[in-house]
Amino acid sequence: MTQDAKILHLLLLIGYSLLISFISPSDSSLEYDYYRESCPQAQQVIRSTLRRIYDRNSTVAPAILRLVFHDCFVQGCDASVLLDRTVFMGSEKDTLPNQSLRGFDHIDIIKSELENVCPGVVSCADLLVVAARESVVLAGGPFYPVHTGRKDSDHSFPEISYELPSPLDDLPTTIARFASRGFTVKETVTLLGAHSTGMIHCKFFERRLYKFGGTDQPDPSLDPEFAELLRSVCNSTQTQSQSESSSASPSASPSPSTTSTKSDEERSMKMDYEGRGSGFGILYYRGLLQGRGILFVDQQLTAGEETASWVRQYASDVSMFHKDFAQVMMKLSSTQVLTGLSGEVRTNCREVSSSLW
Ligand code: HEM
Repeated sequence: MTQDAKILHLLLLIGYSLLISFISPSDSSLEYDYYRESCPQAQQVIRSTLRRIYDRNSTVAPAILRLVFHDCFVQGCDASVLLDRTVFMGSEKDTLPNQSLRGFDHIDIIKSELENVCPGVVSCADLLVVAARESVVLAGGPFYPVHTGRKDSDHSFPEISYELPSPLDDLPTTIARFASRGFTVKETVTLLGAHSTGMIHCKFFERRLYKFGGTDQPDPSLDPEFAELLRSVCNSTQTQSQSESSSASPSASPSPSTTSTKSDEERSMKMDYEGRGSGFGILYYRGLLQGRGILFVDQQLTAGEETASWVRQYASDVSMFHKDFAQVMMKLSSTQVLTGLSGEVRTNCREVSSSLW
């Protein structure tokens, strides 16, 4: 090889490595137990505070699980989703895809407990991934180890929030959106298993119930009996007994008594509508096989050969789903992280610590 050819070869190699490091979804510079010396109690403080909140309000678990997805999908797991708007900078929270995110106040509580024991040490990005892991466990999902050492961004990325998947996306669009963040088709099916827990407001699926896609008919991929249940849950006026039955059993028959108007906040369907503890994952995938996906994007997983095959496998093998879900959550949690000298550790997750902002 001539000297010129060697230089060209070297330049190509450098370019290739730079490209790989740029598109790589995970970062190996995270460490096992990063806070072992600086704050050995960190994970324990996060766990115990979250559990204390959960005991009073179990909806904190799905709220935080969703938060980590919306954080990591947008410019990586850097807690940028937690930043409030300032006069200098917009906030991801204010964008349409993020408007129904919850749990920010709970993150504040956990952060202030951390600040009490180790001021200025534990990043909000690490707090969020560890709290999301605990949330998965509380929701009946698998435990998975999370490496730590993430730093927080000093920026919010509202414009990138619009790259988040939409509940109305069809399958090719969903697959393409997840592929843009390094996830395979199988991993996309696995990640959506997170929709085993939490709630979905009617506004995200109501179109499927009546005039779908410019027709006078409901979405044909929706099981008619299930569509009826969703219509009754979302009906803007309700009887007392209807509201009770919707949160307990879908088959309980409502008997009219007092009527009231449901607020938009109340108009929602529980993803674990067959009861808590009915199995993280199993209900979701079995439901999809019966046309009982709540969001269009969920039901679309049965529309493609490869995705439908994974749905069938997960519906019949919950331990396989749990193993894969654990792995994909580890991958999600290490997406494009800031480590070392990049980023900062915020003392308040809502505000950038470094001065200018
Ligand atoms: C195609 C991808 C996805 C779309 C379009 C989507 C969309 C949605 C929508 C519209 C809701 C209802 C929010 C509300 O009513 O307030 C929701 C809830 C939720 N999502 Fe997703 N999601 C997706 C993927 C994921 C992933 C990958 C995760 C986690 C790994 C996740 C976790 C959750 C959780 C836990 C909830 C319940 C939140 C709560 O109870 O507050 N989602 N999602």
